[in-house]
Amino acid sequence: MPDSACDDASDASDSAGPEALRPHAEQAFAHELSALAAADDRPRPVGWRLSPWAVATYLLGGALPDGTVITPKYVGPRRIVEVAVTTLATDRALLLLGVPGTAKTWVSEHLAAAVSGDSTLLVQGTAGTPEEAIRYGWNYAQLLAHGPSRDALVPSPVMRAMAEGMTARVEELTRIPADVQDTLITILSEKTLPVPELGEEVQAVRGFNLIATANDRDRGVNDLSSALRRRFNTVVLPLPASADDEVDIVARRVDQIGRSLDLPAAPEGLEEIRRVVTVFRELRDGVSADGRTKVKSPSGTLSTAEAISVVTGGLALSAHFGDGVLRPGDVAAGILGAVVRDPAADRVIWQEYLETVVRERDGWKDFYRACREVSA
Ligand SMILES: Nc1ncnc2c1ncn2[C@@H]1O[C@H](COP(=O)(O)OP(=O)(O)OP(=O)(O)O)[C@@H](O)[C@H]1O
Ligand SMILES: [Mg+2]
Repeated sequence: MPDSACDDASDASDSAGPEALRPHAEQAFAHELSALAAADDRPRPVGWRLSPWAVATYLLGGALPDGTVITPKYVGPRRIVEVAVTTLATDRALLLLGVPGTAKTWVSEHLAAAVSGDSTLLVQGTAGTPEEAIRYGWNYAQLLAHGPSRDALVPSPVMRAMAEGMTARVEELTRIPADVQDTLITILSEKTLPVPELGEEVQAVRGFNLIATANDRDRGVNDLSSALRRRFNTVVLPLPASADDEVDIVARRVDQIGRSLDLPAAPEGLEEIRRVVTVFRELRDGVSADGRTKVKSPSGTLSTAEAISVVTGGLALSAHFGDGVLRPGDVAAGILGAVVRDPAADRVIWQEYLETVVRERDGWKDFYRACREVSA
C-alpha cells in the first residue's frame, strides 16, 4: 500500500474516529443540504431548515444555480412528495402507507433530515412498544434518590421533538398496541404532552410535526383507530410504475451501498440488475413481461428493497469470489432465497417459472443454468 494511503487512513481516524457503517441522511447528504439552504430564497415555515420547495427538490433531485447536483432520493410521482412535504407544514401529521419496500422509511428519514436537519428522533414501533417510548420515562436512580423532577425525567424522541420544534418519526405505527398508539391523539390534536407527576406539560413549539409509517400488509394487526387516523394525512407510496423506474432505483441505491462497502461499480452489471427486476416484477404481477405467460406469485413480497439486497449481495460475491463483474451466477442464489420463503409451495412456483418463462427467453441461457444449479 502506498504511503499516502496509510497517511490518509490514519488522518481520517485521528480526526473523526471510525467511520459510521450507515451515516444518517443528514450526514450522508450534508453537502446537498447546505447547498440547498444557501440557494433557497423561498419562505421557510417556522422551525424549518428549508422551504417546502427545497425539501421537495432534495427528495426528487435537481440542479442548483451554483451547479450543485441534488441526487434524487425518491423516484416516483412528484405530487406525492409535494403533498407529503406540504402536510408537514400544516397542523396535521403525515402517515406514509404502502406495501413493504416502497421506501416509506427511506422517505420519512429524508423528510426529517431536510425539514429539521435531524432524522434521529425515532420511535420504532413493535408489539412491545410501551407508552414511555412515546411519552417519557424515568431515570429510576434519580427518581428514588430525589423524587420526580425534570432531571429524573427521560424524554422520548417525540417529547424532544415537541420541545425543540423538530420532526419526530414513528416507524411501523400499526404494530404498536392500540392503547399505546392512542397516546398520540393528545399529542397530535392538543400539541401538548402532560407530565402529571410534575404538574407540568411540554407544549409543542412551532416546527414540530410527526411522520409515521405503516405497512399495508399489517392491516388488521393493530388497526389505527379512526380518532388517530383523523389526525393524519395519509400518503400512499406506490410500487415503482415501470420496470425502467425500478431498475433506476435499484441501480442508484446499489451504487451508493456498494461505494460504502468498497464494492466494484454497478454499471457493468446493469444487465443483471434488469434481470433481477424483471424476475421480481413478473412473479409479483403474476404474468410474464410480454403478457403471454401466466405465472403464480410466491409468498414473499419481492419488493424493490429485496431486489436491492439481492444485487448488493451478488456484487459482493463477484468482488470477493469472481472477476468483479456481476454475472448470472452471482445473483441466482440471492433470487432463490428471496423467492423461496415457503420451502414447499414457493419452490414449485419457482421451478415452474424457470421452466415456462426463463428457459425460453433469448439471452437468458446462462441465467437459466445458474438458477438450475442453485435450485438443485
Ligand atoms: N420509489 C423509490 N425511490 C427510491 N428508492 C426506493 C424506492 N422504492 C424503494 N426504494 C429503496 O428501497 C429501500 C427500502 O425501502 P424502505 O426500507 O424505506 O421500505 P419500507 O417501505 O419502509 O419497507 P417496510 O414496509 O418493509 O418497512 C430503500 O433503500 C430505498 O432506497
Ligand atoms: Mg420501513
